[in-house]
Amino acid sequence: MERIADRILVIQLPGLPVKIQVASCRLRVTSLKKAFTVNRNLKTKNEKLQTRFILTINLIGQSVNWRIKRKKVSAILNIKVKILYKKEVVPNIYLMRLKAPEIAQETLPGQFIHIKCSKDNYPLLRRPLSIHRIDKEKGEIFILFQAVGEGTKLLAQRAVGDDLDIVGPIGNGFNIYPESKKIMIIGGGIGFAPLLALCEESIRQDKEVRVLIGVLKKELVIGEESIRSLGAKVDIATDDGSYKYMGLVTDLLERTIKKGWLADQIFACGPKPMLRKINEIVLKVNIDYQVSLEERMACGIGACLGCVCEIKTKDKKEDKVKYEFKRVCVDGPVFKASEVFWDD
Ligand SMILES: Cc1cc2nc3c(=O)[nH]c(=O)nc-3n(C[C@H](O)[C@H](O)[C@H](O)COP(=O)(O)OP(=O)(O)OC[C@H]3O[C@@H](n4cnc5c(N)ncnc54)[C@H](O)[C@@H]3O)c2cc1C
Ligand code: FES
Repeated sequence: MERIADRILVIQLPGLPVKIQVASCRLRVTSLKKAFTVNRNLKTKNEKLQTRFILTINLIGQSVNWRIKRKKVSAILNIKVKILYKKEVVPNIYLMRLKAPEIAQETLPGQFIHIKCSKDNYPLLRRPLSIHRIDKEKGEIFILFQAVGEGTKLLAQRAVGDDLDIVGPIGNGFNIYPESKKIMIIGGGIGFAPLLALCEESIRQDKEVRVLIGVLKKELVIGEESIRSLGAKVDIATDDGSYKYMGLVTDLLERTIKKGWLADQIFACGPKPMLRKINEIVLKVNIDYQVSLEERMACGIGACLGCVCEIKTKDKKEDKVKYEFKRVCVDGPVFKASEVFWDD
């Protein structure tokens, strides 16, 4: 059952009785075969849960044809999950497997969890980490993180068997369009973290996937074999030339495009200068490009406005571009690159 804003929308899934109340219009559907004089499109959005429903009811002869498109209906949970596995995969970068069936079922590639890193209350604030991999069957999720400061260093000390206090899944996730055939995924450094789940999902949807990874040096390469075993192509760039292509991952992208491999969609996560450069390249070839942004976070659930960033939106009335502040935690972390304000 869902309740949405001041309009109340109570929905049970197809085949079951449905009751809908929209402002002054009331109707009760007890059988889908019954006819109603309703022709109404309702689009509404619950800001708090980032849940969007598109409900269409049409009168077609004597039957009611209705559709509920659930873009994302996952509640944000606060639960304790067990650490099943922990490994330092490359120096200072840790992989953890967590038993989290409720989150594994609901989560989308690109979403993240907010973690209480230590057993006590220091540091007070949780730390956001992307969901690296999702195993729905086993009810497990993976995180991949770099120990950079107090929180992540404490997290790296947690042991297999410990319970972690997490909140999630949070955020919107990447949007893979059904019509896209070729997908390019670009990760810079630890920005690779949310991209393995995306790669897995793209392959599951029968897309041709190519992954570009950029790191400083060979010993920091993560995920090469995992990507290949999924059936995606992977190219690697190292800044110092110690492995594969010598140079920046954005140079590798330009080469790949010059060779004629054009994706229908590009997804990227990594340092902002990398994301910005990809945007410049992509603008010339007009490819749809989505980025996962990072901002420091406090509440992680859209309440404190600590993570806002400037996003371009279109003023439909005046037909001009304007800027709006959006919360990276719940309005993102994934944004269309064309909406991002790149000049800071
Ligand atoms: C949506 C989202 C998903 C993320 N996913 C991952 C992930 O999968 N793996 C991973 O390793 N990291 C990820 N990060 C970054 C991670 O949250 C930070 O590295 C972490 O919070 C740092 O906490 P700390 O206490 O260890 O470091 P602090 O002591 O708080 O800071 C150490 C250094 O890290 C920088 N920093 C802290 N927080 C952030 C942040 N949110 N973004 C950018 N720089 C930051 C600080 O400016 C400082 O230089 C993600 C961030 C966001 C917003
Ligand atoms: S962290 Fe509080 S609104 Fe995003």
